[in-house]
Amino acid sequence: MKKNAKYIKFFLSLALAAGIGGAVIIPRQTMNAVSAEQTEKVYTEVHGERDLPYLVNNIHKLVKPYNYIIGKTKYLWIEILGYLLTLGVFAGVMGHALLRVFFNYKNQKAQPYQYVHTGEDFIYDGIIRTGHWLNALFIITLIITGFAMHYSGPSHVLGYLHNMTGISLTVLYIFFLIHAVVRLDYKQYFPGVKEILSGQLIKDLIKNGMFYLHGIFMGTKNPFHSSHEHRLMPIQKVSYMAAMYIQVPLVIMTGVILVEPANLPFVVSLIGMENMNFVFIVHLLAAFTVFMFLIIHLYMITAGDKIAQHLMTMVTGYHKTYQKKDVSK
Ligand code: HEM
Ligand code: HEM
Repeated sequence: MKKNAKYIKFFLSLALAAGIGGAVIIPRQTMNAVSAEQTEKVYTEVHGERDLPYLVNNIHKLVKPYNYIIGKTKYLWIEILGYLLTLGVFAGVMGHALLRVFFNYKNQKAQPYQYVHTGEDFIYDGIIRTGHWLNALFIITLIITGFAMHYSGPSHVLGYLHNMTGISLTVLYIFFLIHAVVRLDYKQYFPGVKEILSGQLIKDLIKNGMFYLHGIFMGTKNPFHSSHEHRLMPIQKVSYMAAMYIQVPLVIMTGVILVEPANLPFVVSLIGMENMNFVFIVHLLAAFTVFMFLIIHLYMITAGDKIAQHLMTMVTGYHKTYQKKDVSK
């Protein structure tokens, strides 16, 4: 417990430091915006070179403006793809949930049962839980503020909050990587070469997938168990690996460039000012995939023996185990 308190303090001071860092860096943009706002009538948001104001009244007058304006520039294919995939994912989890309710009702009618608490295993260290909840808080804030800017246009409150939370997430992610390397925690996420080459990973993924497509409705037990040493089941392993080592780094790398490109002249000249719209496009596409991950993630955590079983594991660190008991007699 004492050990956990140390980690919690460490992460909270980290988040505070990141917040203060953001608060110092970002007002430069915002202050420019306020002075522009007082003198101009119509504003268009642009980001650009160091001396360009955050808001200008006529984008076409700028020497090298971005060819992307948040809230205004829309690519039809991204909008359609984003909408369709997000709705598809939502419909998929809702359909799965309805089937679970239906089969649960049917199974209970055929042979009534209850889950009896049999014990608990310690799975998540304090550092992982604290990191996870901070990560969740930052990412949810970024999804809300990011998509609000995308659909309703930017405002300074949204932009400020988004950038500040973005910087906090970046700092947290650096610590996530350090922890992954120092404590070899990355091994939890990455399947081993042997596991891949021998075909074991594919077999396990199919077995795990069949449970969610069939077994869960029939009321059978999940064939995989979590332990402190191997806490992720095959599907979790692959999807969390994609989330934490592909999707999140993508939003972070593109986001960091967008916060203040003038601070990264090397990167901007490598990409080319005329190609900066691609940075927005990748940021937006990756943001959609993070949002989809979150919908599936929030649903999947309800898929334990009891609805709050997984949630409580991430809160307390202890995974409660249950046994089915026939209560028909
Ligand atoms: C899961 C995390 C994130 C999500 C879901 C997200 C989402 C978004 C979305 C939807 C937009 C609007 C894009 C558009 O309309 O084309 C945006 C813009 C932006 N994002 Fe993110 N973002 C995330 C992380 C980050 C991070 C980590 C940073 C910085 C370190 C960042 C910095 C920015 C910046 C600078 C913009 C341009 C708007 C502005 O300057 O205020 N984002 N984000
Ligand atoms: C309110 C939002 C969230 C809730 C309630 C939540 C809940 C949970 C729960 C209960 C677990 C444990 C699953 C289990 O034991 O089976 C978990 C694990 C995990 N979650 Fe979340 N989560 C949220 C947001 C996020 C977000 C936004 C991300 C990243 C994009 C994320 C990434 C992860 C990862 C990587 C793990 C595995 C942790 C590990 O074993 O290292 N979660 N989450």
